[in-house]
Amino acid sequence: MRTRRSVHAIEGNTSDETLLWYGRAIGELKQRPITDPRGWRFQAAIHAYQRGTDPFAVDGESLPSTQDQLDFWNQCQHGSWYFLPWHRMYLFHFEQLILSEVQRLGGPSDWALPYWNYSQDDPNSRLLPISFRAPTLSDGSPNHLFVSQRISDANAGNVIADETDVDLSNCLSKQRFSGPELGDTGFGGPQTGFMHSGRAPGALESIPHAMMHVRVGGNGFMSRFNTAALDPIFWLHHANIDRLWEVWKKRDPDHLDPESHQWLRGVSFQFHDVAGNRVTMRCQDVTDPTAHPLEYQYDDVSDPLPESFGVDETAGDIDVLQLIGATNEPFEVNLNATATQCVVRAPRSDNTVESFGVDSNVTRVFLSIEQLTCNGMATAIEIYLGLTPEADPESNPTHRVARLPLFGVREASEPTGPHAGSGLAFSLDITEAFQNLDDLGDDKFRDVPITLHPVGEHSGDAIRVGRVSLYAE
Ligand code: C2O
Repeated sequence: MRTRRSVHAIEGNTSDETLLWYGRAIGELKQRPITDPRGWRFQAAIHAYQRGTDPFAVDGESLPSTQDQLDFWNQCQHGSWYFLPWHRMYLFHFEQLILSEVQRLGGPSDWALPYWNYSQDDPNSRLLPISFRAPTLSDGSPNHLFVSQRISDANAGNVIADETDVDLSNCLSKQRFSGPELGDTGFGGPQTGFMHSGRAPGALESIPHAMMHVRVGGNGFMSRFNTAALDPIFWLHHANIDRLWEVWKKRDPDHLDPESHQWLRGVSFQFHDVAGNRVTMRCQDVTDPTAHPLEYQYDDVSDPLPESFGVDETAGDIDVLQLIGATNEPFEVNLNATATQCVVRAPRSDNTVESFGVDSNVTRVFLSIEQLTCNGMATAIEIYLGLTPEADPESNPTHRVARLPLFGVREASEPTGPHAGSGLAFSLDITEAFQNLDDLGDDKFRDVPITLHPVGEHSGDAIRVGRVSLYAE
C-alpha cells in the first residue's frame, strides 16, 4: 500500500526524491494541450474553469467538446457533504496520473502525494514548504513546484497564516459529519445535491481548508476555484484535508460517515483513469482509503487535540430551526473602516431570543450570513458579537465568534457563472457568545449588534452582504 507522508519529513531527508519526481511529472503534464485529460490544464479545469480567467489561454486553441466540458469540468463540490468525498476522488485520480508519469520516467513505483500539515505547534509548519518557493532548481532548470501567482510572502518564506487560520479544535470536535444548510453544518458539510458552491460550508471546509487557500493565494491562483489547482501546493493542501477526515473518524467511535443512500450512492462523479477511460465513482467507493480502489494510507492520523478535548455536548438531535431575527436590507462592508456593524432586531416573545438561556426550549443559537459577494479579491471577514459601534474589534478578541475565509468569492459572485451570483454563505454556532451578551434593546425588541471586520489583503472591491440572520434551535 502506498503511504502519503508529511512534506516536512520529506524535506527533512535530503535523499528523499518524492518532491523532485513530483516536479518532473508536472513538467510532463504541462506539455499537453488543454484537450488532454492527462494534462495539467485539464486536471485543474476539473476543479473549475472559465475561459476568461484561464492564465494560459491561447487564442484559437481547441477545447474539449462541450459535452466533455459538461461532464468533467467545474465539478468541485463546495458547501456540501460531497466536499470531502469528491476531493478525495479528484486527488486519487491526479495521484494515479502523477504516479504513472513518475514510473514512465524511471522513478519509484510507490510514489504517493505528500501532505502539508500546517496545524502543528511549530509556527514554521505554516510557511510554504521550501521546495515550492524558488523558480529554479539547483541545476538551473525550472522548478515546476513554483508558481509566482501566490501572495508574495509565501514564496519569500515569510509568515502567511496564524494559529486561528489553521485551528483544528472546532472542526475535529464536531460530532456529526453532516447537518442542515442552516444550523450546524457538521464536520463535512450540509446535505445537498450536486453542489459547486453557494451553501454554508462544513467546519473543516472553512477552517483550515478555505482559510489556507486565501492565505497562500493572495490575489493569485489558490484564492480562486478556477485556478486553485494550477498551484502544485493545492494537491498537498488537499491531501492534508483528506487526512484530517481520517483523523476525525479515528478520534471518536461516534464520528461516522453519513449512512444514507443519498450520500453513499445518490450522486455519481465522472473522472478519467490514466489510460483516458471514463470512470464513475460514488461516495461509497471512497469511505476507506486503505481499501480498493484507493489503497493508500497516511503516515500519521493521530489526534492533534488533547484527549480531554472536544465532545460537542450541545449536539443532540437536530431540532427545527426557528428564525428569530434578520437584517432588512443588503449592506456593504466598509473597507476603509476597521469595522461595519449591523443590528439584528429580534421581537421579544415566547420561545425566541428573550427566552434563550432561561427557557430550555432553545438549545442553540446560529448566525447565518448569506449572499456575501465581492467582484475582486478579499481574504476574510471576522465576526464579532456585542461590540459598540466605535469599538476596535482587534482589541476585543473575546467578542470574536468566527473568521470567515472568502475562498472562491469571485466565482460565487458572477451572475453569469455556474454559481449564478448567489455569493458565499456561512452558518455559525454562536450559542456560547450569545449567552454572554448584554440584553440590549427595548421592551418589544432585543438588539443584537454584529460587527464585520475585514482581515488580510483585499483589492478594494466592495464586499456586499445580502442578509444576516439569527436562528434558534
Ligand atoms: Cu475545491 Cu480546496 O478546493
